[in-house]
Amino acid sequence: MAEDLIILYGTKEEKYKNIIPQIEALIGNETDRIANLANIAAALKEQFHWLWVGFYLVKGDELVLGPFQGPVACTRIKKGRGVCGACWEKKETIIVPDVEKFPGHIACSSLSKSEIVVPVIHNGEVIAILDVDSAELNRFDETDKTYLEKIVSLIS
Ligand code: SME
Repeated sequence: MAEDLIILYGTKEEKYKNIIPQIEALIGNETDRIANLANIAAALKEQFHWLWVGFYLVKGDELVLGPFQGPVACTRIKKGRGVCGACWEKKETIIVPDVEKFPGHIACSSLSKSEIVVPVIHNGEVIAILDVDSAELNRFDETDKTYLEKIVSLIS
């Protein structure tokens, strides 16, 4: 397929419905997981213009920074630490409306105000997490959870 994305300016739901088939097309014929994570991060960044979007990969007892778009970020996070480590431990999506109110939040960027973290589960195990940060408070809700969980299910 052509590598140009078609970007839509509409409601949040319309944006997800626009970008998901394009992500499916981008990763459908590619078996390399890192290549696919990289294109998913890039497609989401182009469609939503979030501050930061990317993946941390489970490696041993920690998460290690994987493909992402946005400012430089922390490279390693232990299980249970920060929002990402909590998501890994709980194996469930965590929505943080105000990062300053999340005990143990790891501030990779002082610009980040709200966050959503979604586990990528393969054969019942968390193999990575998708982390999205916004420079605005209270940016993420159940709509993001629904669609981002659908997107990560395409990987696992
Ligand atoms: N805020 C995350 C760390 C990762 S960065 O936001 C990219 C956390 O608390 O786990």
